[in-house]
Amino acid sequence: MRVGCHRELLLLLLMAGMPAASFAGSQPQQQRKWPVPYRRFDYRPKTDPYCQARYTFCPTGCPIPVMKDEDVIDVYRLQAPVWEFKYGDLLGHLNIMHDAVGFKSSLTGKNYTMEWYELFQLGNCTFPHLRPDMDAPFWCNQGAACFYEGIDDVHWKENGTLVLVTTISGTMFNQMAKWVQYDNETGIYYETWTVRAGPDKHAVVWFESYECSKFILRTYQKLADLGAVFNKIQTNYTSITLFTGEPIYLGNETSIFGRLGNKTVAAAIRDFYYLFKPHQSVEEFFLNFLKIVDRVVLNHQFYLFYNLEYWLLPTKAPYI
Ligand SMILES: *[C@@H]1O[C@H](CO)[C@@H](O)[C@H](O)[C@H]1NC(C)=O
Ligand SMILES: *[C@@H]1O[C@H](CO)[C@@H](O)[C@H](O)[C@H]1NC(C)=O
Ligand SMILES: *[C@@H]1O[C@H](CO)[C@@H](O)[C@H](O)[C@H]1NC(C)=O
Ligand SMILES: *[C@@H]1O[C@H](CO)[C@@H](O)[C@H](O)[C@H]1NC(C)=O
Ligand SMILES: *[C@@H]1O[C@H](CO)[C@@H](O)[C@H](O)[C@H]1NC(C)=O
Ligand SMILES: *[C@@H]1O[C@H](CO)[C@@H](O)[C@H](O)[C@H]1NC(C)=O
Ligand SMILES: *[C@@H]1O[C@H](CO)[C@@H](O)[C@H](O)[C@H]1NC(C)=O
Repeated sequence: MRVGCHRELLLLLLMAGMPAASFAGSQPQQQRKWPVPYRRFDYRPKTDPYCQARYTFCPTGCPIPVMKDEDVIDVYRLQAPVWEFKYGDLLGHLNIMHDAVGFKSSLTGKNYTMEWYELFQLGNCTFPHLRPDMDAPFWCNQGAACFYEGIDDVHWKENGTLVLVTTISGTMFNQMAKWVQYDNETGIYYETWTVRAGPDKHAVVWFESYECSKFILRTYQKLADLGAVFNKIQTNYTSITLFTGEPIYLGNETSIFGRLGNKTVAAAIRDFYYLFKPHQSVEEFFLNFLKIVDRVVLNHQFYLFYNLEYWLLPTKAPYI
């Protein structure tokens, strides 16, 4: 699974360079609650056979074991920079990391790793497929939790972090496991982008991303709620951020691409995503990336798909 994650991070780097800035003149619209709450679902639907992973999701995954109540379990923060992959200092400079959490049972001596990532790689979660036989863009954007036995110490330690953050009881671990099940069943779609009004700390957040680091933070929060006391930890979580004016709600697949949908909006969305074909190679992606930047800067537009709904983000090139 690490291969998949590395790939993820490469794309993240590319997207991180996307220029954008806050836009003052967005149209007034009905009052919304920001950030838009991430939508949870009743259950996880089967994935469509059209979606084919290049790297099998969670190949060595196993069910979360039931621990003895009296067990004492070490919890580790696992973080590795992605610059290991290819792009040297550049990624290191951007501080892009992959996050996971480790557990070690003192009764059995066994250890485990848990992470959350895309079922069909990041490109497919970030941009849809445009299929000739379908009007609506087609998404392969599920993400899920993966739990497996073992911690690859060398991988995490050598260039990243492997630190003990807390120690929990077997009871707490088992409660956490129930929550992971719930979280995994109901939080289904990967959301790549964080979208904010500007780089300022106090700027409004329009959308929160939903990816690997968010899962780790939720897990820590759950353990804290269950009574775990954490060692002081410094965390630098990164996410790929777009700075835009107030998002404009466009609708869902049916309301836009259905019979009664607005054909102009439907065509604009397809046109926009045409630039982001997920099948392309890294080199193609680089070339298209320039077009994308151009498009986003010149047209001040980015179409975001979030909670299975489409939004128009009014982006604007930075003032010189
Ligand atoms: C998804 O992404 C992977 C890797 O980028 C690619 O091999 C695969 O064909 C893509 N498409 C689908 C439909 O999953
Ligand atoms: C989460 O859901 C995915 C998809 O159904 C599944 O493959 C995976 O094993 C689940 N993870 C855990 C930790 O149960
Ligand atoms: C996890 O278990 C493996 C195999 O026993 C061992 O090599 C590794 O050091 C352990 N790591 C931690 C953090 O406990
Ligand atoms: C750590 O970084 C060095 C230098 O970039 C690299 O050669 C090495 O393979 C990395 N280690 C691991 C375990 O990925
Ligand atoms: C987090 O970022 C700060 C400031 O950029 C840096 O000094 C610190 O070493 C980073 N910590 C980790 C764990 O990467
Ligand atoms: C799509 O939006 C329409 C109009 O707002 C709504 O009636 C419909 O239930 C929505 N469909 C889905 C699948 O959410
Ligand atoms: C379709 O949407 C565009 C852009 O929001 C708008 O200008 C146009 O009036 C709409 N057309 C119809 C038929 O609703």
